[in-house]
This record gives sequence, structure tokens and C-alpha cells, in this order.
Amino acid sequence: MKTSTEPLDSYSSYQTSIKLGPILEEQITSPVKVTQCPVNSYNEWDPLEEVIVGIVDGASFPSWHIAMEAPLPEDQREIFQKNAGRPFPAERIAAAKRELEEFVHILEAEGVKVRRPVPMDQLQPYSVPGWVSTGLYDAMPRDVLLVFGNEIIECPLAWRSRYYGTFAFRPILKEYFHAGAKWSAGPKPELKDELYDYEWRESKPGEPTRLVITEFEPTFEAADFIRCGRDIFAQKSNVTNEFGIEWLGRHLGDDYRIHVCDFNDPHPMHIDATLVPLAPGKVLIHPERVPVMPAIFKGWDVFHAPKPVIPHEHPLYMTSKWINMNILMLDEERVIVERQDEPMIKAMKEWGFKPILCNFRNFNSFGGSFHCATLDVRRQGTLQSYF
Ligand code: ALA
Repeated sequence: MKTSTEPLDSYSSYQTSIKLGPILEEQITSPVKVTQCPVNSYNEWDPLEEVIVGIVDGASFPSWHIAMEAPLPEDQREIFQKNAGRPFPAERIAAAKRELEEFVHILEAEGVKVRRPVPMDQLQPYSVPGWVSTGLYDAMPRDVLLVFGNEIIECPLAWRSRYYGTFAFRPILKEYFHAGAKWSAGPKPELKDELYDYEWRESKPGEPTRLVITEFEPTFEAADFIRCGRDIFAQKSNVTNEFGIEWLGRHLGDDYRIHVCDFNDPHPMHIDATLVPLAPGKVLIHPERVPVMPAIFKGWDVFHAPKPVIPHEHPLYMTSKWINMNILMLDEERVIVERQDEPMIKAMKEWGFKPILCNFRNFNSFGGSFHCATLDVRRQGTLQSYF
């Protein structure tokens, strides 16, 4: 990993050493034009060819644990504690599922190949020396898997309820591997009590944000990283520690540079409702969490996300209303936006984008929107520097 003070032109040229597997050779001789490797994605905006979309089947309130207290909205913590080990309300799951189907249809109509994980039993307790837990869901591939170029990485997740959070995606990962992708995983964390601050409490005004995880071992969630080619933006959060960021930086090597940003977020978990690159030279930001833009964005168009309009009575179990800025770029112009989010639709048009509308408010209840619900496995394009 390069440190953020090194000049960008010091990168060594990118070379891939992936060997061609049998499926890949077949693809190359096929008349259908396909990108070389089934996994190929370097940024948030190159033309999208293949995506994994999560599922809400079996979504459950997991066993309660201190790690969830810090990032969850204050008014939801008791609901999680009381319902631990039970499914989310069936009607909420059904409504979110309908919206996911609409989203899948839209993506397919736009020419994107969609893949889905396999449903898992989230209520089946599992144990590791020292603790027992039940699961959460497989709704957010963005949290658990990272794609850098031809490589797909399983993240070492900090929540005990997500210990097996990549298993629903394993059939797809195996298939990608057989077709030539590089498949790797962060060190499996132990998630012992030493990883957590059991004394965690809200930070007082003026205090640095207190995080619920320690530096006991490397942990990170994929959604704490956002990609602009060779430059990756990251944040330390209640699920991603410095150890984890350092592990990822060394794993990726000198082709990439990770910029660790410090935002104004008292409950940090996931960067993609704070800083969202839209296209080369264009970035969407949360107007309150990013009071000062990182200097590297000098010369970029910085768009302030409009205030969310999600009504107060609409349940958001796991996020703030700013999940409205968690959009998905299909290319440098087409963007999927929540159908009822009129201020965002209007703003996107004014900024020169082409919004494609999809109902997703019921899915939002589960803690994410279009970016969280997806993993852009393959986009056209190559590794480039945009700064
Ligand atoms: N943690 C982010 C939010 O709640 C997604 O806005």
C-alpha cells in the first residue's frame, strides 16, 4: 500500500497474472462479447455488466451483542434486544422482497446480468470457542465482499451474527474462481471479547468518536471502502479497524492507495452514505458528515446530497435516513434512485445524470439501499488513476 503522501505517478504498472481456466477459454472463442474475467471492477461508474443483488429471505434480528449497539440508531436498539433470535416482521420482509424483484427487473432491462445468493437459515445457532450467535441476513453483498479488479475478497466481519456472512455467496464465488477470478479472504477473526469495548457509550460533544471495536485483530466490512481506480477511500468505523485497513492495504499491494478519511459521524458504519463517487470528477457527499472535502478531490464537482424525505414513521432498523444517497451507478450517467425520493431525482437531473427510478423504501428498512444491496462484480474498464 502507498501512503497518501506519495505521488500518484510512482505506481508500478498493473499486470495481471491470472491464468485462463476452461470456461474462460470457451468465452474467448464464443461470438458473444464478454469481458475477459467474470470479476472485473475498479470503480463505482464504469459500465455495469454483472451484479450480485442480495436477498431478504429469512432476515432475522440476531443474538444481541454490544457490537451492534454503537452503529444502530438509538431508537432501534431496544427493538433488536427484545426480538433477538426472531425473524423480522413477515410483512416487512415480503415488501422488501417485492422491491428487490423490481430492482432486479430494472437491472436486467438495462442489460445487466444479475446473480443472487442462496437463502440461509439465520435462526440456526452456531458457536465458536467463547460465544454463540444466530445470523442476520444476506441482503447486503456490499458489506461482506470486496472487488478489486479480477479479485474478490471475503471480509473478516466484526459482528458475531455475520460470522458466516459470506457463505450464501459461496456458490457464485466458486463459479467465478473456476472461470478465472482470484478469490481470497481476510484472516478469519476470532471475535473474542477482547475485540469489543464492553464499556462503550455515546461520545460527548467535542470528544473523538468512540468506537466499539478495538485493534485486537483485523476486521473490516467492504462498505467502509469506496473505489476510484487506484485510489480507495476508507473510514475507521464500528466494524472496520486500523488493523483491518492495514491488512487490506498490504494485501492489495502497490497498485492501490488507501486514503483513510475522518468524517463527522458519531455512529460510523459504512462510507457509502457519506462519500459516494459518481463518475470521474464527480462526487456526492453527505453535507453534514463531510464539512471539509479531502484535499485530493480538489477540482472535482462536489454535489451535496439533498435532505432525505423518508417519513419519520417509516421504520429504519439499522441506518439513518441518509441511506437515500446510497445510489448505484450503471455507468457515468445512469443512476438508480429511490422512486419516492423526489429531491434526489431532481438534483440528479440538474447535475446531468439520468435517474432510473425504483421503489426501495421497504428495503431501506433493513439498513441499505441500492449500493448496499449490490456487489458490482463486473464493469467494463481497467485500472486507472483519476486524481
Ligand atoms: N451508517 C450509515 C447511515 O446510517 C449507512 O447513514
